[in-house]
Amino acid sequence: EKGGYATFMEKEINEQPHAVADTLLGRTDESGALVLDELRISEQQLRAVDKITVVACGTAAYAGMVAKYAIEHWARIPVEVALAHEFRYADPVVNERTLVVSISQSGETMDTLMAVKHASDMGALTVSICNTHGSTIPRESDAVLYTHAGPEIAVASTKAFLAQITAAYILGLYLAQLRGGSYAESAQAVMRDLHEIPAKIEELLTRMDRVEEMANFMADTRSVLFLGRNVGFPVAMEGALKLKELAYIHAEGFAAGELKHGPIALIDAGQPVFVVVPAPDTPHELHKKVVSNIQEIRARGARTLVIAHDGDEDVVPFASEVIRIPQCPPLLAPLLAVVPLQVFALHLSTAKGLDVDQPRNLAKSVTVE
Ligand code: M6R
Repeated sequence: EKGGYATFMEKEINEQPHAVADTLLGRTDESGALVLDELRISEQQLRAVDKITVVACGTAAYAGMVAKYAIEHWARIPVEVALAHEFRYADPVVNERTLVVSISQSGETMDTLMAVKHASDMGALTVSICNTHGSTIPRESDAVLYTHAGPEIAVASTKAFLAQITAAYILGLYLAQLRGGSYAESAQAVMRDLHEIPAKIEELLTRMDRVEEMANFMADTRSVLFLGRNVGFPVAMEGALKLKELAYIHAEGFAAGELKHGPIALIDAGQPVFVVVPAPDTPHELHKKVVSNIQEIRARGARTLVIAHDGDEDVVPFASEVIRIPQCPPLLAPLLAVVPLQVFALHLSTAKGLDVDQPRNLAKSVTVE
């Protein structure tokens, strides 16, 4: 049942090219335009939406944070991401023009379900991005956009995360197309770029030997930091979450721009820091800014474990290790950059002799508060 892999997590990491490809399947017509028949909310209602609120927990919430950057850029609709357990007991500003997008692998997370009900009671339109057919959250929502990652068994979410980002991107591109505006035209081009991602993940998965070795060397590490910026920021937090869950190591993800506002005080000799470097063509010179962050922490003795695109030579002088990912457009990079972080956590857990698929104290789906 594990398809020759030692653990479900390893199997699911290797299924990620399919998770993305299958989630993209059938979302465009012959002309290349996006069609989301399954959405079941009228175009008129979708055009009237003036705010999107994503509700989710854990890894699904990080998928929402990644999607915020892309949806705001493409569709020009403000997006906020709320942890479902915070949203449901707060006093959120939600009405008939709010599209509440829940993201859940299981479709059974109690907090996310209650957030959706709370949003419905306030008159919001609700869309569920979900991996489990017939589960409760899609049933309680006005519409559903299924991710096609296949069953995810390991407690730590991997392929569902990539499928969630993919589905949320499809939704963002669909809204851009529907509402017109400067990105309506590019929706099809972005879809073509997305279709290239599965082969790039496939290629990336063949490069993971060094990441495995690094994890083996680091079995005694007590703390690991993760830095990222823009879409790389939620990737950093997801990398930290994977390490907490799987290897019981203290791990923290930061926005790289925050370094000087506090976290840089944590840097001392030998501190391992993963840095998710933006694609070199990311707007606003973010690439350059992150490279200078790497330089700053390296100068303070950090062990810089740098995730950078193929051909990005600027990082080399300041990197203790460079982990290469294939080139891709800046907003799609999370679908690649998170993979080495998943693989690292998997192997660190294995190196410590821990139960990869069933970490202590955790359940696959949290159906209680
Ligand atoms: O089934 P859901 O997507 O609603 O689950 C949400 C979180 O409980 C889940 O992503 C959790 O954070 C994972 N264990 C992360 O690996």
